[in-house]
Amino acid sequence: MSEQLTIALSKGRIFKETLPLLAHAGIEPVDDPETSRKLILDTNQEEVKLVIIRASDVPTYVQYGAADLGVAGKDVLMEHGGVGLYEPLDLRIACCRLMVAGHEPWSEQAQRLRIATKYVNSTRRYFAGQGLQVEIIKLYGSMELAPLVGLSDLIVDVVDTGNTLKANGLKPLEKITDISARLVVNKASMKRKHACVQSFIDRIAEAVRKQEAAA
Ligand code: ATP
Ligand code: PRP
Repeated sequence: MSEQLTIALSKGRIFKETLPLLAHAGIEPVDDPETSRKLILDTNQEEVKLVIIRASDVPTYVQYGAADLGVAGKDVLMEHGGVGLYEPLDLRIACCRLMVAGHEPWSEQAQRLRIATKYVNSTRRYFAGQGLQVEIIKLYGSMELAPLVGLSDLIVDVVDTGNTLKANGLKPLEKITDISARLVVNKASMKRKHACVQSFIDRIAEAVRKQEAAA
């Protein structure tokens, strides 16, 4: 690899679950984002840098070419809309489901539904598809609290084990879609750095296949 490559990742589960895939491609970060305050991490490959940003900012950095590649949840990509991005690979990590949840099915609720979520666009699209106009309340986290304090009737959030819903007395009601993290690529980088980007995608794809086979 000779071209400079910048890869956008978020701290936490995306970083942790992407590390083994990067390792398979021969890329190892020099610093740990959980302990370092650096936002640009060097790797063992001089030409490869990792930028550490909020999960929901990954598509924006890649769209504008501030990063050549990134790893983002499908939930985040659906919300962003995918402008300026290629999405060549399902990494099959950070798997969960985007769901509607609440105390009871909404067919039993007469009034115009209030839905708390950070997924405003996906929520509007989903309920419009059901022929329902809903009131959406934008939150940035802890969506499960909203129905408990009367802020909303329902929430739309990602669910994995269901433990967070259960701990707060809520039920999963309907699955909107399955979610996993995707590799995204800036469209201009794909052209300008084609050999280098394609070789990276190929090595990550092989890592995903191996990880799947071992599971
Ligand atoms: P932000 O910091 O931008 O608000 P976030 O807190 O949602 O983002 P993470 O919690 O690290 O960021 O989640 C990153 C991605 O991992 C999500 O976009 C989603 O695709 C997936 N994810 C979220 N929660 C879970 C979960 N409980 N189990 C599995 N995957 C999850
Ligand atoms: C996510 C999501 C749910 C929880 C679901 O939160 O917002 O609250 O995971 O997972 P479960 O079904 O396994 O309980 P996360 O733990 O990422 O916290 P944050 O997004 O609020 O940082």
